[in-house]
Amino acid sequence: MTCLQTKVWTVDKTGEIYSSYPQITQAAAFLQQDELVAFPTETVYGLGANAMSDNAVKKIYEAKGRPSDNPLIVHIATMEQLNKIATNISPLAYQLMEAFWPGPLTLILQKKQGISEIVTAGLDTVAVRMPDHPVALELIKVSQLPLAAPSANLSGRPSPTTALHVEQDLMGKIAGIIDGGPTGVGIESTVLDCTSDVPMILRPGGITKEQLEQLIGNVQMDAALTETKVAPKSPGMKYTHYAPKAPLTIIEGSPQFIQQLINEQKQRGKRVGVLTTEEHANMYEADYVVVCGSRGDLESVAHHLYDSLREFDKTNVEIIYSESFPVTGIGQAVMNRLMKAAGHQLITEK
Ligand code: TXA
Ligand code: MG
Repeated sequence: MTCLQTKVWTVDKTGEIYSSYPQITQAAAFLQQDELVAFPTETVYGLGANAMSDNAVKKIYEAKGRPSDNPLIVHIATMEQLNKIATNISPLAYQLMEAFWPGPLTLILQKKQGISEIVTAGLDTVAVRMPDHPVALELIKVSQLPLAAPSANLSGRPSPTTALHVEQDLMGKIAGIIDGGPTGVGIESTVLDCTSDVPMILRPGGITKEQLEQLIGNVQMDAALTETKVAPKSPGMKYTHYAPKAPLTIIEGSPQFIQQLINEQKQRGKRVGVLTTEEHANMYEADYVVVCGSRGDLESVAHHLYDSLREFDKTNVEIIYSESFPVTGIGQAVMNRLMKAAGHQLITEK
């Protein structure tokens, strides 16, 4: 792959974002020339390309090392853009958009012709969302392009929640990065299939099952989310993901039990890391302790999760243990990502 000079722009999103900002107009011009630009969203940083151009979208798979059977989410800023990429949209899907867009909900809809086949990996459906981030929305509006954008990490690595994470993975491989500060939610959007009679969650994320059910009633969960032997309906969900370099195991048990496991490893001469929360942080003696938010506030755990996983890669730990979390609300997405990062290695205290 050719080595590019990656341009990094900084935008202060605490103030108003104007479409005339040179950071936005330059980044938009790159996108119109089929180049890749990473940008902040409210969930994680995305790696954007013109969703209508095969040439541009191909570059996403190359830069990330992403398997080509894993389709991308198309990011839009207006409802006019929606009508160019999806068709046969149900009243229920419109109801969801009305309630949760812009926001961390991706809808799987019937695809319209014209969208790059590479975006949808040959499927007849397309994943669409309207991100709730002023920089993302301005970039889409100024470029006048729907943007295909996966998380802006190398395939298999934790998703990026800061521009620095994007730089760590993609510097020299993409045309530009807009640094808009750390993202908010910290975990990707919920992927909801709206082509079935009862909508089905294919990937838990920023909008919880409870929030969806409050609005539209019964929502199914893809069986593959709870049963490891079932093939997932969302192609991307079958890949190991988000993994730190040292093997990670999730522990369902007390801090005392986790400490016992740490001690056993230390006796074998291993350097051990532990992923914990504010409540339990000073209860461990390990080589490296990473505090990932507060378990009293699962949203803070989601917000810090990927950065915490990346933290371990800066250390020389050889094994990582993580506390587990209740699977309610955003906890469902947190445990889904943790279990994937751990390759489903779980130890339960008897
Ligand atoms: O929050 C997010 O969703 C972030 C930000 C950047 O928007 N994006 C993101 O994209 O997480 P990515 O590519 O890392 O994950 C997209 C997921 C994958 O699991 C993929 O398989 C699934 O969406 N997906 C895309 N199109 C699909 C389709 N037509 N049918 C089923 N699943 C689909
Ligand atoms: Mg991803």
